Amino acid sequence: TTARSLVDIAASTPQQDLFARVLDQRSRPNPYPLYAALRRQPVSRQADGTWVVSGYDEIAALLHDPRISSDMRNAGQESAPGAEKSFILRDPPSHDRLRGAVMARFTPAVVESLRADVRRITGELLDAAGSQGRIDLVDEVAYPLPVSVICKLLGIPPEDEARFHVWADTLARSLDRDPDMTQEEADQIQHAADALADYLTQFTAERAKNPGGDLISGLLTGGAHTEPLRGDELVVTTRLLLIAGHETTVNLITNGMLTLLRHPDILTRFRREPALVVPMVEELVRYEPSVQFRYRATLDDIDVGGTTIPGGSAVVLLLAAGSRDPHHFDQPEQFIPDRTPNEHFGFGGGIHYCVGAPLARLEAHVVLPELVRRMENPRLAEDPPPYRPTAALRGPRHLWLNVDRIR
Ligand code: HEM
Repeated sequence: TTARSLVDIAASTPQQDLFARVLDQRSRPNPYPLYAALRRQPVSRQADGTWVVSGYDEIAALLHDPRISSDMRNAGQESAPGAEKSFILRDPPSHDRLRGAVMARFTPAVVESLRADVRRITGELLDAAGSQGRIDLVDEVAYPLPVSVICKLLGIPPEDEARFHVWADTLARSLDRDPDMTQEEADQIQHAADALADYLTQFTAERAKNPGGDLISGLLTGGAHTEPLRGDELVVTTRLLLIAGHETTVNLITNGMLTLLRHPDILTRFRREPALVVPMVEELVRYEPSVQFRYRATLDDIDVGGTTIPGGSAVVLLLAAGSRDPHHFDQPEQFIPDRTPNEHFGFGGGIHYCVGAPLARLEAHVVLPELVRRMENPRLAEDPPPYRPTAALRGPRHLWLNVDRIR
């Protein structure tokens, strides 16, 4: 579908059906015309009763509103029985206690200490990709990297890392919420979740006896201002870090390279000016965000932008639409690598603001210059690339590049 016809589709779709269009797989390569159409009515009720919030100010107001909940049971949605919720799906006070425990250990110094690992792992992955003239940036670099980095963060011994990759791959599929998922696939996902829980239970029991300097040991022993986490909480919190930090980072790297290859002038400038990476990664997170939207539930009637969302409603915070709102950004549809100011929603906002943002930035700051330095004359083999099914966590399934060689 061409950009022109996407704009036509967006213009001719009734307001209350626009979000269903966003969820449609055919919109995955370019949902942005639909977001622009949604922003004409920044708080809009969809045919299924869901409220979609797409304006910058309206999203900001709700992200900071204590009457908004991340626990979708408050909008009448059931969660899987027995599934203990991680803190991304919890409200205060338990959200704050669990998040605080992680934050206390996820310090700038801890993040910085991972820089050398990120550089080494990136180098090894590019070496392994060889020089065959064709590389899938997703499977060969972007996908394996974040899992290895999180294992380092958690203190998982290198010999156990391979198993983490398998579990992370399988659990990532649970994010796709594929309605056609077979029972066999559902069983595989459950099996991976159980295996990871068993491993973490054993690993944490071991760490409880011999604590180290890693994050899991820190969560187990507590600190000056934090209580130790209890058994189940530790497993669920660790699993959250693994899942939240995985595909988001994969997509940042692949969307980043895709965007650069679509803007050859900027790529040329970036080669000359590697320090551009710092503002450019911020702009990537605004322009092609891994997390396009998040769900919330209203605990009460909430007036926002002149509209009242009734209590008990399911709300979509369309972060990616807010990050391209012309009321807040100049030339929002343009990729401007040194854009300032750049107060986007790529990492969310308010009490759930991304815990891993400093790590995600560090990974992108190391990987993108390294890719550009080592790949000679990279070209997109297909544009648009094939996309994964999830609309909320949007990114290419493969990013095939033709290269003259990998240095
Ligand atoms: C939360 C984006 C990487 C851990 C969030 C949220 C966003 C986000 C938008 C807010 C969710 C909400 O409000 O409901 C991203 C992006 C990343 C990234 C775009 C990479 C490019 C990471 C990494 C980690 C991580 C590397 C950890 C290792 C978390 C956690 C939360 C979170 C634990 C929940 C925070 C809370 O509920 O208080 N992330 N993330 N993220 N992220 Fe990230």
